[in-house]
Amino acid sequence: MAIIKIQKGTKDILPSDMPVWYFMEDNARKIFSEYGAKEIRTPIFEATELFARGVGDTTDIVNKEMYTFEKSERSLTLRPENTAGVVRAFIENGMHRLSAPIKLWYKGPMFRYERPQAGRQRQFHQVGVEVFGIKQPTADAEVILMAVNYLNALGLNDLSVELNSLGCPKCREEFKTKLKDVIKPYLSQLCPDCQARFEKNPLRLLDCKVEECKAIYAKPEIQEVIQSDFICEECSEHFSGLKSYLDALKINYSINKLLVRGLDYYNRTVFEIKSNNLGSQNAVCGGGRYDSLVRNLGGEDTPAVGFAMGMERLASLIGNRDDEKTRAFVVSNNTVEGIKLAEELRRAGISAEFDLTNKKFVKQLEKASKVAKFAVILGEDELNSNQVTVKNLDTSEQKTIPREELLKAI
Ligand code: HAM
Repeated sequence: MAIIKIQKGTKDILPSDMPVWYFMEDNARKIFSEYGAKEIRTPIFEATELFARGVGDTTDIVNKEMYTFEKSERSLTLRPENTAGVVRAFIENGMHRLSAPIKLWYKGPMFRYERPQAGRQRQFHQVGVEVFGIKQPTADAEVILMAVNYLNALGLNDLSVELNSLGCPKCREEFKTKLKDVIKPYLSQLCPDCQARFEKNPLRLLDCKVEECKAIYAKPEIQEVIQSDFICEECSEHFSGLKSYLDALKINYSINKLLVRGLDYYNRTVFEIKSNNLGSQNAVCGGGRYDSLVRNLGGEDTPAVGFAMGMERLASLIGNRDDEKTRAFVVSNNTVEGIKLAEELRRAGISAEFDLTNKKFVKQLEKASKVAKFAVILGEDELNSNQVTVKNLDTSEQKTIPREELLKAI
């Protein structure tokens, strides 16, 4: 019969991959809880409306990339990202009544119908943090600090932080108008995506990857608008505040005026953390401030800031990590005593295996040396004298000891 293959853009995470995934997950829990963040797990599917309203219906994610389906006349969508879902849970569970800041972290699969390529999948995993209730730039700084420290804990230091401020809806409107005015004469030369974005979402013109468009946006009169300090005084103060905290924390960053991010909910701070070792899909982390999202999704006015990282991209930078070996492999042809001793070890908190097929002694020892740190040998002599022989499989050192000394010996 024909075998059924895995879907394009998805990957099995195999047992041999797990050491890296445990490493990322254990560190997420450890590092984020150092900042007082609590884990939240929200459903994989939500009402389609949540993303249309949350992420924004002019974005590529909502327009082209969502896995949407109907059930009982309801339109549902597999989450393409998790900020909208966390905000929904925040509102629905009355978390605004908790004392601010409310810090939440998450990990899990996300789904985007994108063209698969290195570093880009249709099902991928994110680990992320959302901090609610603080409008001051201290929160933005702490969120960036959390991201950087998490990456450092994973041994990833060779990364660059890029920063921008998108201003508030008011100052951004003025900027959009200026940008459109200066780009308008070239409209017919832009790619179809940019032509569509021109009216709906002109900021997104800035991160178009099409060479012809990039050449147009590099023209002096357009660059003058892009590089201008368009943000209002309050937004500018917020941005300066953030920069001074980052300086004090010795976090290196560069300002990238072209950084606009692909989701509609941001205002003021946006940031990305990039790696030079990842090819074209080089962002390991993206985030920013979204002060209107809680209100737009029906909650009380609550400022918020957060980030998410792509775990497959992190995994590819971390590389392989050794699997932890089983502590003890019980080698015995007495199946009853062998199976009992292995279980005794497990109950004492020591991982243990036993050959379930009663193979020859030497075969059992061979297997033990592949998977375990110690062989615990229970032969006829040992059984008769209530002893065990412990062999360290790294050093080949071996000694016979009374049974009651076994736990201490391994
Ligand atoms: P995002 O930039 O869309 O932001 O995604 C964050 C990260 O997820 C990216 O930097 C990348 O590492 C990873 N990622 C995205 N798409 C894919 C894909 N198709 N395959 C593999 N990895 C991918 C967000 O999702 C926002 N919710 C971040 C945020 C949280 N902003 C505020 N709070």
